[in-house]
Amino acid sequence: MQADIGILGFRVMGENLARNMESKGYKVAIYNRTSSVISEFMEGTGKGKNFVPAMTIEDFVNSLSKPRKIMLMIKAGSTVDSTIEQLISFVDEGDIIIDGGNSNFEDSERRYKYLYDKGIYFVGSGVSGGELGALYGPSLMPGGAKEAWDSIKDIFKAVSAKVGENNEPCTAWIGYGGAGHYVKTIHNGIEYGDMQLITEVYAIMRDVLKLTYDEMGDIFEKWNDGVLKSYLVEITRDILRTKDTDGEPLVEKILDTAMQKGTGKWAVISALDEGEPLSLITEAVYARVLSSMKDERVVAARMVPFIEKSFEGDKAAIIENLGKALYAAKIISYAQGFSLLASASLSRKWDLNLGEIATIWRGGCIIRSAFLDDIRTAYDKNPGLSNLMMDGFFNETLNDASKGLREAVILGVRNGISLPAMSSALSYYDGYHTDRLPANLLQAQRDYFGAHMFERLDRKRGEFFHYDWSGEGGDTHASVYSV
Ligand code: 6PG
Repeated sequence: MQADIGILGFRVMGENLARNMESKGYKVAIYNRTSSVISEFMEGTGKGKNFVPAMTIEDFVNSLSKPRKIMLMIKAGSTVDSTIEQLISFVDEGDIIIDGGNSNFEDSERRYKYLYDKGIYFVGSGVSGGELGALYGPSLMPGGAKEAWDSIKDIFKAVSAKVGENNEPCTAWIGYGGAGHYVKTIHNGIEYGDMQLITEVYAIMRDVLKLTYDEMGDIFEKWNDGVLKSYLVEITRDILRTKDTDGEPLVEKILDTAMQKGTGKWAVISALDEGEPLSLITEAVYARVLSSMKDERVVAARMVPFIEKSFEGDKAAIIENLGKALYAAKIISYAQGFSLLASASLSRKWDLNLGEIATIWRGGCIIRSAFLDDIRTAYDKNPGLSNLMMDGFFNETLNDASKGLREAVILGVRNGISLPAMSSALSYYDGYHTDRLPANLLQAQRDYFGAHMFERLDRKRGEFFHYDWSGEGGDTHASVYSV
């Protein structure tokens, strides 16, 4: 009997996903460029299981039942293109190639079109949840050729994480072209934001409140029982409690330079293209960049007066406020992320279902959290919601939690603690809720130096005016131009 699906690329994500599929009753063909990886697996973990090992790409393709379903679990970038080229010689029309890597959605868009013209169905699928997610149930975000969905949906639903009373699978068809990888990109951007926010809370706890690691671990444990319940809060609790061999907290010994593979940056680039303020995630990307400038920072740190860290008032109340700050900033970050999804959905004609996206992020993925249920409820109530902050529940929640955010930012600013994500969240929140911003002055400046024109509050919208501010403009021809 031929295999139901093939996994090409057998590093840890590929291996774990293949094991997950096999454990759900599927016969899985496996192939890796370095074939010893496959033979070793078959002698060990794979022994006696329902795997079909292949030593050549041709054998691999031929071992699959039609329409063939081939899932690439390889490094994103040019390797995906060269592997697709190799596969093209062996596959037939109607076969399906799935890219399960962290690929750029523009590449997926291109690959979808390229293969579609050859009658081959391309699916770019976000796979989130790391190694364990791949093994026990990831969140899967497939997009591309819709024709492929019927053939792969049973496998995708079987292997994905399940949530809720009805065991809902954390996967759904996202949209055509690059939609699946786009949604994974925004997931990762949100992941960057969540992680940065947690590190900012940690900075206040460590440097201002001078809490011990065990105290911090206990706070995160408590938070993980309430509205902040999430995978990232849970692992932070465990990290804070982990001791090195000498009994000291291991995290204290880790070099403070954060790395990144680019998905957060892609989310930010897309936000700029869409004209969407994704300020928190943008700051989270920049925070990683700034952290990587360690040598410069060490020198710079000696060039400014030291700020003695201090706080006034009740420590327990400040900690409670920090929890609110984290919650408020998180809501604001998701409001920005979902607003970007809505905008890209319109401009790319992806027809994204935002409630469903919240649903499939509830389990399996890195940003999984209790609060995605509330996001889903908000979009179920009103699929056309312009911004999550406009939802009644989130509006009320933020009315209270934003006070905590404001307090946390004030505390950080006073103590010289860099809080890029929290302070950008607050600025966005305040800006979004201001009916009269100072942009009138900005428009006047543009008109002063460039005759770019402005609208007036006392006239109809769409009517543009120019004023000769310097008295030297004469009859300069003014015009309106905006992207
Ligand atoms: C996931 C993650 C994963 C990502 C890592 C590292 O959803 O499972 O997003 O896909 O590769 O989190 O990303 P950075 O190296 O950019 O931090």
